[in-house]
Amino acid sequence: MSKYIAAIDQGTTSTRCMIFDQSGAVASVAQMEHEQIFPKAGWVEHNPTEVWDNTRKVTAEALAQKDLKASDIAAVGITNQRETAVVWDKTTGKPVYNAIVWQDTRTDQIVEELGGSEGAEKYKAKVGLPLATYFSGPKVTWILDNVDGAREKADKGDLLFGNMDTWVLWNMTGGTDGGVHVTDVTNASRTMLMDLDTLKWDESIAADMKIPMSMLPEIRSSSEEYGKVRERGVLAGVPIAGILGDQQAATFGQVCFETGTAKNTYGTGNFLLLNTGEEKVMSKNGLLTTVCYKIGDNKPVYALEGSIAVTGSLVQWLRDNLGLIKNAPEVEDLAKQVEDNGDVYVVPAFSGLFAPHWRSDARGVIVGLTRYATKNHIARAALEAVAYQSKEVVDAMNADSGVDLTELKVDGGMVGNDTLMQFQADILDVPVIRPKITETTALGAAYAAGLAVGFWKDEDELRKHWAEDKRWEPQMDAKDRDAGYAKWNKAVKRTLDWTKG
Ligand code: G3P
Repeated sequence: MSKYIAAIDQGTTSTRCMIFDQSGAVASVAQMEHEQIFPKAGWVEHNPTEVWDNTRKVTAEALAQKDLKASDIAAVGITNQRETAVVWDKTTGKPVYNAIVWQDTRTDQIVEELGGSEGAEKYKAKVGLPLATYFSGPKVTWILDNVDGAREKADKGDLLFGNMDTWVLWNMTGGTDGGVHVTDVTNASRTMLMDLDTLKWDESIAADMKIPMSMLPEIRSSSEEYGKVRERGVLAGVPIAGILGDQQAATFGQVCFETGTAKNTYGTGNFLLLNTGEEKVMSKNGLLTTVCYKIGDNKPVYALEGSIAVTGSLVQWLRDNLGLIKNAPEVEDLAKQVEDNGDVYVVPAFSGLFAPHWRSDARGVIVGLTRYATKNHIARAALEAVAYQSKEVVDAMNADSGVDLTELKVDGGMVGNDTLMQFQADILDVPVIRPKITETTALGAAYAAGLAVGFWKDEDELRKHWAEDKRWEPQMDAKDRDAGYAKWNKAVKRTLDWTKG
């Protein structure tokens, strides 16, 4: 009897394989970073071949750490950075271009033309998303328009499109030798091409974007067997039985199964998802409507999402581009040495601004600088930017749902940062709660796969795995909170219209 579930988490900066036992505890983990390619200002790419190589290596290593064999693993779940688009040749298995990453803004022109006189809301009623550079569809259009010979090949049916889930699944199940070309509803809901009611591709939007239907993967649920790992892999023969976009996976891993439950993940960006049950709620305040998950034949569960493009990647930028810190945790050491931000505000609109603004023309600013300001203040302002951006989406969530959030469940890489978590509780004026297992993204994908093969019985069994680790209570008085937020809003205004003049 297999005792474990494996999850592959193909994220923006790294790829991980995590192995979980029956209690949801982590048995082993292996991780590899991949190159971030920035060919021009606003462009972000990944090499899909490097990502697939890393996927194989981390999977082998995670198994080796515990001396596990394929027969010890009951199923594999896949979770992934969403929206990042890969187009590849189905006969050679080779990508025709690098993956265009979700943060990339090169499609701003395409997006504007698609909107025409109807503007950004053109497809929103159908797909739940405003027209923005964030989503996959226009990235595929860009590849077909700009890569030599790509359009002809696509028209002949030789090219396939996938987000990272599909790319990994296709390769794991055999690639050119019978790879399965499938995605799940959560990933499909981030392409701008899927109708949220029918959960099918919308042919008219695909036609508007000049994307041949033959390129699109088959849309399936988030929890069912899609195929088996190909014979020569370390997991040979193991069923792949769960796929969830990473933010939906974290929501599932945080056991946000009831309507009204929410989580905020602090990763490369921040993503706050509120489970709205079987009802599809359309936002009036700049949030996205998206599929949260669909377990097998059950009805889909929807979510409202506040997506923030740059949070953890701001800390990476302080490290890699400015050399202000040597490693990510150092940002907290610097920030803690000062009492406040010294009136400095950083708005990291590196990919424009996502929720609730949706302004691809915005660019980042650091404001309030005086001779008094030090790198400590900039570090503190960077952490505060993470919390302020989250406050903007919580306010939008409260306005959309008509009910105020009473506590915030958090996870992701930055939740070990006490200074940030305390400031988050202060600025939201609600408790912030961290679970014992913060690896909720991989866990959510493992849960989806485990449910499909009967490794876990039902959602009730999964609920029992969740336990609180730490809680931060708000301590700031209202006057300070309001004054800080007012300054933040002024700083945000300074980012707008930068590329439009
Ligand atoms: O929508 C983008 C999101 O899925 C990326 O998540 O954790 O890779 O930054 P992450």
